[in-house]
Amino acid sequence: MTIPQTKHAYFEGEIVPIEQASISVMNQTFNYGTGAFGGIRGYWNDSEQQLFLFRPADHFRRLLDSAKLLRFDLTHTPDSLTAALRQLLKAEGWKNDVYIRPLAYVTTEGIGARLHNLDHDIAMFSVPFESKLKEEGAHVTFSAWRRVDDNHIPPRGKIIGAYVNSALIKSDAVLAGFDDALVLNNDGHVSESSGSNFFMVRNGVASTPPVTANVLEGITRRTLIELLRVELGLEVIERQIDRTEVYLADEIFLCGTGVQLVPVTRVDHRPVGTGELGSLTRELYELFSGVVRGKVEKYRQWNIPVYD
Ligand SMILES: Cc1ncc(COP(=O)(O)O)c(C=O)c1O
Repeated sequence: MTIPQTKHAYFEGEIVPIEQASISVMNQTFNYGTGAFGGIRGYWNDSEQQLFLFRPADHFRRLLDSAKLLRFDLTHTPDSLTAALRQLLKAEGWKNDVYIRPLAYVTTEGIGARLHNLDHDIAMFSVPFESKLKEEGAHVTFSAWRRVDDNHIPPRGKIIGAYVNSALIKSDAVLAGFDDALVLNNDGHVSESSGSNFFMVRNGVASTPPVTANVLEGITRRTLIELLRVELGLEVIERQIDRTEVYLADEIFLCGTGVQLVPVTRVDHRPVGTGELGSLTRELYELFSGVVRGKVEKYRQWNIPVYD
């Protein structure tokens, strides 16, 4: 099957041909990174012939919060953005898994890094995007870079300029032969990876850094905390995590809209637990995969259908 390509964008309040959705080289966000973005998934459910958006209102709420940190003045709401997104996806007519990229950006052109006296808007586009469980797991290292701090560029929001930090972390890890890297805060504790939140399981308890540890307030993180507690009956603690606890973990996984749920089976050439995909991670992945695709009745409120 050939998967169709992106044809439209949501731009300046309308659905337009993708070629029309372009900005000037003089654009402020292009010059200074002063914008925010998101990443939302649509999952194709073949038996229902439906495309389900996963928690779009939560993603748009975070986008608007990220924009608020940058003093954006926007009239959009999570509901109005979800409606616009449904319209965009209907125009595309996708019948496959997709990834949606909303961008909140400064529309003003010209020189001068600042956040005041500027105009703003939101654009969106979607691309086909599939994923499957990385059975062999990922091999990660600890990055030599430190995580951006709340007092530098707040990482709780998805702020465009802050992703230079993620890009440095990711490329250095990949070019050194790893799949990704975990990054420490300035105080030496674990924050997350270049583009996903971190969980470890040790002695039957799951731990993840708190939202005050310079992590993105991940929607997948929030989802998995609930599934771990409610469905798998596990204790989940949000707390500071030391580097050497990571080396002693029984299971580790990374999570996010882009990566979904990735088991980490080696850290700095040390096996995590047995060095194989752990049973809890596999169980959680199966559960999560069903939930996002609208196959678990109890969590259907998280699945927003695109088609009428
Ligand atoms: C740095 C970072 N952490 C965590 C996440 C996961 O967030 P979410 O689950 O909301 O996609 C992402 C991806 O969006 C990210 O870029």
